[in-house]
Amino acid sequence: MPGAESPVVLICRRLLPAGRERLAARCEIREGGLDATADGLLALAPGANAIVADPTVPVGEELLEAAGEGVRVVANYAVGYDNVDVDACRSRGIAVTNTPGVLTNATAELALALTLAAARRINEAEDDLRGGRWRGWDPGDLLGLELSAATFGIVGMGRIGRRYAELIAPLAETIVYASPSAKPDVERQLGAEQVPMTELLARADVVSLHVPATPETVGLIGASELEAMRAHAVLVNTARGSLVDADALARALRDGSIGAAGLDVYANEPEVPRALLEAPRCVLLPHIGSATTRAREAMAALVADNVLAALDGAEPPNRVA
Ligand code: NAP
Ligand code: GLV
Repeated sequence: MPGAESPVVLICRRLLPAGRERLAARCEIREGGLDATADGLLALAPGANAIVADPTVPVGEELLEAAGEGVRVVANYAVGYDNVDVDACRSRGIAVTNTPGVLTNATAELALALTLAAARRINEAEDDLRGGRWRGWDPGDLLGLELSAATFGIVGMGRIGRRYAELIAPLAETIVYASPSAKPDVERQLGAEQVPMTELLARADVVSLHVPATPETVGLIGASELEAMRAHAVLVNTARGSLVDADALARALRDGSIGAAGLDVYANEPEVPRALLEAPRCVLLPHIGSATTRAREAMAALVADNVLAALDGAEPPNRVA
């Protein structure tokens, strides 16, 4: 049982029992809950030794300052950690950790689901049916993009990009990818070809984004990139909302300069840009890329591994800074 001298863990929002129970056995837990506000977290932070954040919680100077000098680790409950001010942590000697690998399958599978849903207009078709607008088999209605023999363009050939490539390989005629470093093993395994981004946009029937949000990737897909894509092409984004200019995407869908989009992430979550809500041929999901029981429990366990290692003065297994 934790006592008066136990380390304090601030769980900014919610951690599943697979991680929370291990932390609670040794630490005092303070929790913000799903509706935590920035002010609420500032009030809970003083004296924290570990901060468990997630993609919706900005961890910057203000929260770290409020927490004080005892913080040893910011453990993000996600693989992406663009919500964490890494420099502010580094300058205080605070480790930053994430949850890589255990959510790769789940997220790649969701990207595949979005690809199929957007290409075949599944949400529109179901809306028509549920809305009583279905008038029977119609040879010209809801025509979509056939993916067999398509060219798939993968932006970011890391863990999730590669798994997505493996999943779509049985459909794909061609897989092209844009990534800073070449991936000879993926090229050998799947016949994928590394190409410049401009060539990928011009050739791909499906463009799927799998890069982290960094100063280099924010705004990666704007008006000119959408213009460069094929008129029937599908854009899939399970990475981060800030990679895509939402207004430009909504315009491209309205004007028909691309075929469809499938999105799981938005720049200012949980806000979803009105332009996207109103855009045609656009499947919108609420950031559920890693939302399988297996992945979310494994992520929670990694969070606990990282926090406990840091509190014990050991190297956290998933340290990114
Ligand atoms: P990863 O293994 O680090 O892969 C990222 C890849 O992006 C790397 O291969 C990297 O290239 C590449 N890259 C970096 N900058 C690039 C650029 N400017 N252009 C093209 N490629 C670039 O990460 P991961 O585990 O696959 O996760 C990827 C991202 O997915 C995360 O950062 C997170 O934002 C997002 N995600 C979202 C969900 C969700 O719920 N929707 C779930 C999990 C992850 P190099 O290999 O050459 O360095
Ligand atoms: C989720 O968005 C993650 O980065 O794990």
